[in-house]
Amino acid sequence: MAAELLGWYDRMARAMPWRVPPAERLRGARPDPYHVWLSEVMLQQTTVAAVKGYFERFVARWPRVSDLAAAPDAEVMAAWAGLGYYARARNLLRCARVVAQELDGRFPETEAALRALPGVGPYTAAAIAAIAFDRPATVLDGNVERVIARLRAVEEPLPGAKERLRALAAEITPRERPGDYAQAIMDLGATICTPRAPACGLCPWRADCAARALGIAAELPRKAAK
Ligand code: ADE
Repeated sequence: MAAELLGWYDRMARAMPWRVPPAERLRGARPDPYHVWLSEVMLQQTTVAAVKGYFERFVARWPRVSDLAAAPDAEVMAAWAGLGYYARARNLLRCARVVAQELDGRFPETEAALRALPGVGPYTAAAIAAIAFDRPATVLDGNVERVIARLRAVEEPLPGAKERLRALAAEITPRERPGDYAQAIMDLGATICTPRAPACGLCPWRADCAARALGIAAELPRKAAK
């Protein structure tokens, strides 16, 4: 399972300024945890396309988490303007200051320790643990929920199905390359296993997908009536 997705990711990974390019990745280069954290906080409720420019301006201006921690609040809030959800920017600064002042500038590596940081919830903690530290954490966002609901033909509607989807996602999270796997499954949901008209013919999991076999991929995940 994971092998097909990782093979697809090696060919198709979207270039993003916080990702390590494939050639460097094959040589063992890891992304900077500060970059991973910053991008994941920016990507909460904001699209990849909208985040790219903000991310590049932030790391050019504040190359390390200690630089961000030392920045005046008003400068960071002004640089954040346009991304919205200003509570995220306030938590961003609080988190940078905790990491810089209490943790010697180093992000924790476990999901539990990451979750103790301001503004870091279950999704973001799992994403940082996987992507920055290659820990086999299960990353579950809306894209991943959709992919897993289809792969396993989960008919139970969201949000009730969430914990079931989490358990199914955890079963297929590999011990090898969990950071690449996390990004691969998010890319799959964003580019192939899209909400409407999924491109099943191009999917590395097409032979394994239970919803595709049943002809109901585009109908899943179901949503509970409001
Ligand atoms: N959405 C949020 N984080 C992402 C990542 N690291 N790769 C792709 N899509 C994402």
